Amino acid sequence: RKGDRMVLSGAAGGVGSMVSQMASNIMDCDVVGMAGGPEKCAFILQHGCSRAIDYKSENIEQRLDELLPDGIDLYFDNVGGETLEACLERLRLHSRVILCGSISEYTRKDPFALSNYTRLRATETRMQGFFVYNHLQNWEKVMDDLAGWIHDGRLKPVQDIEDGFQNMPRALANLYYGRNVGVQCCSVRGEPLEWK
Ligand SMILES: NC(=O)c1ccc[n+]([C@@H]2O[C@H](COP(=O)([O-])OP(=O)(O)OC[C@H]3O[C@@H](n4cnc5c(N)ncnc54)[C@H](OP(=O)(O)O)[C@@H]3O)[C@@H](O)[C@H]2O)c1
Repeated sequence: RKGDRMVLSGAAGGVGSMVSQMASNIMDCDVVGMAGGPEKCAFILQHGCSRAIDYKSENIEQRLDELLPDGIDLYFDNVGGETLEACLERLRLHSRVILCGSISEYTRKDPFALSNYTRLRATETRMQGFFVYNHLQNWEKVMDDLAGWIHDGRLKPVQDIEDGFQNMPRALANLYYGRNVGVQCCSVRGEPLEWK
């Protein structure tokens, strides 16, 4: 919703760098982004986030309280785990949580045990997951919308290209080591992919 105080984790990644620009430039939200390291934080400030939290060197809870003393209207979750828990703790009345991914949990042996899900009841918050492949019937409309926003300059896709198909495994590993900025791609031809 227009004016929402939004928090976005994984803000420098493929999904995050698109979501931050769409939320800020198209939906008029105020986006606090989280990313790992000063370079990524500088990047997200250029791509839709008004403020940044470096979750690798800063205390997330303290920074959320500083930056959003009145709480969160909307949390877009790419990472799950402790970050999700910290955001649930700071939800405002009638807020929303979007479950896109939980990358901090993919390599854990045991799943993270969320201790404060009852915050959803107390704040009458709606938490909803989505999976892109369940929405393929909307593909054409989404492509039209994205193309329109790219053409009018409100959305700038960012790609991080690994050169050569043989580097596909490294491209995948980059996601887990936090080495990518924007959409991690692997170019067969060794050239950036064209946006049409
Ligand atoms: N629901 C769906 O349909 C759907 C579709 C596509 C992707 N996803 C999910 O959306 C999320 C983002 O996907 P993406 O493809 O755009 O990947 P991405 O964000 O480009 O890459 C992953 C980023 O996550 C961060 N990260 C890695 N390990 C982390 C950890 N332990 N804690 C916090 N952050 C960590 C790293 O950034 P930092 O350097 O900032 O840590 C890394 O660059 C993933 O969870 C993915 O599974 C969901």
